[in-house]
Amino acid sequence: MIAWCQVVRYLSTAIADDSLENAVALKDLEVFERNEEGIETAIGILKQRFGEKLKTSQALREQHCHTTTYIPGQLPDAVVFAGSSEDVQETVRVCAEHHVPVIPFGTGTSLEGGVNAPAGGISIDLNEMNAILSVNDEDLDVTVQAGVTREALNEHLRDTGLFFPIDPGANASLGGMAATRASGTNAVRYGTMRENVISLTAVMPDGRIVKTGNRARKSSAGYDLTRLLVGSEGTLGIITELTVRLFGIPEAMSAAICSFPTVEAACNTTILAMQSGLPMARIELLDAETVKAVNEYSNLSYPVSPLLMLEFHGSENGVKEQAELFGAIADEFGGSGFDWVTKTEDRNRMWKARHDVYWATTAQDKSRRGLSTDVCVPISRLAECVTQTQADIAEAGLYGPVVGHVGDGNFHALIMVDENDPAEVERAETVMEKLAMRALAMEGTCTGEHGIGQGKRRFIRLEHGAGADVMAALKIAIDPRNIMNPGKVLGLGD
Ligand code: LAC
Ligand code: ZN
Repeated sequence: MIAWCQVVRYLSTAIADDSLENAVALKDLEVFERNEEGIETAIGILKQRFGEKLKTSQALREQHCHTTTYIPGQLPDAVVFAGSSEDVQETVRVCAEHHVPVIPFGTGTSLEGGVNAPAGGISIDLNEMNAILSVNDEDLDVTVQAGVTREALNEHLRDTGLFFPIDPGANASLGGMAATRASGTNAVRYGTMRENVISLTAVMPDGRIVKTGNRARKSSAGYDLTRLLVGSEGTLGIITELTVRLFGIPEAMSAAICSFPTVEAACNTTILAMQSGLPMARIELLDAETVKAVNEYSNLSYPVSPLLMLEFHGSENGVKEQAELFGAIADEFGGSGFDWVTKTEDRNRMWKARHDVYWATTAQDKSRRGLSTDVCVPISRLAECVTQTQADIAEAGLYGPVVGHVGDGNFHALIMVDENDPAEVERAETVMEKLAMRALAMEGTCTGEHGIGQGKRRFIRLEHGAGADVMAALKIAIDPRNIMNPGKVLGLGD
């Protein structure tokens, strides 16, 4: 992994030193060495049990630590293709006995090194667990195995009039989305995986299978294990099944675009639209650089200036009213060219282009790799946070288009870096560091949706203070051997 600037190390150390005793726990969580003998023994036992469902080829191992990221791959020693919770359970039991790491694998779209195996171990691939177990249309929920992707689920629901809204762009697996507390373009209306997972089944580090709840929409029964596991990034247990909320497909869904003279004007429009209580289904900002990249990559011709891509859900009249109100707000800030995207195919094309922004941006400069940041701030601070970040990127002489789920105060600067140019790497790191610190100073978070993984561990204590020590205590209590996706989420960072 690329080295991080001194200032980060200094800040992490300074904070850790306030409470040395607890910081030691955090440190313990990153000290793990390859357990050569244990790995060899575990692979031998698992090979007997799983036969062809266990693979050790270099190509497969490489594929299973691939994440959509700048973070270099760290290969697992073997991959087990699990077909059931029991397969996961057996694998975890063997690995627990021999102190071998287990790393769950969904579709490999992590942006923070989530599926890397820094101390080796067994990757558990959940893609074959792709059964939709029960659609309860009267209760608006569905229970699926963890490997079901969001597109497969919506395809399956096609004739029911229901849909699952959470959409992080990639066709990720529901298990992976729950594990990273994913969100995306329509979280502004429907919430994130935090709000949409009703309960889940997970294999814990000692091999116990735990179901965290039934299908009731509310429960006051004890600790909320569902929410403990949602966003735990495979560090506490492996999610094998989950029940999620469904929604009725709205009577009307209309998309539109609107251009703005500046990013600030687009952000201020978003802020006022949200403060006015407009129930936006999607409100996505693309800065001019992103629009240019998208036009080239997706063969579109949007005006090259800051752009909001919008979607309204409701009744025919409701959607019209929402759009009128939005138009009036946009006018106040110099918005122009409000244009309906009426045809379904154009609407799909627009959202596909939005989902492909990461690829569109990285295609602009093939000699560099993308670092995706994803801070999230209270909505009132959005314009300030975005414009100050753009100024930092320009001052550092970097190419870093901005795109964001702005209705939630969440945006990405996709900074392109030449890994072979240490000075450029350092400039990019400084911008990222400043951005995370700015978000924290604004009472926001260093990661709105991509997770901590390996890349942002250095910020966990800065963001949570003593809360990070409580997390470490929980981790140690639940996974005392530190076999569950070690080296992720907790630790002092590099
Ligand atoms: C997106 C990913 C990078 O919003 O989160 O495109
Ligand atoms: Zn995003």
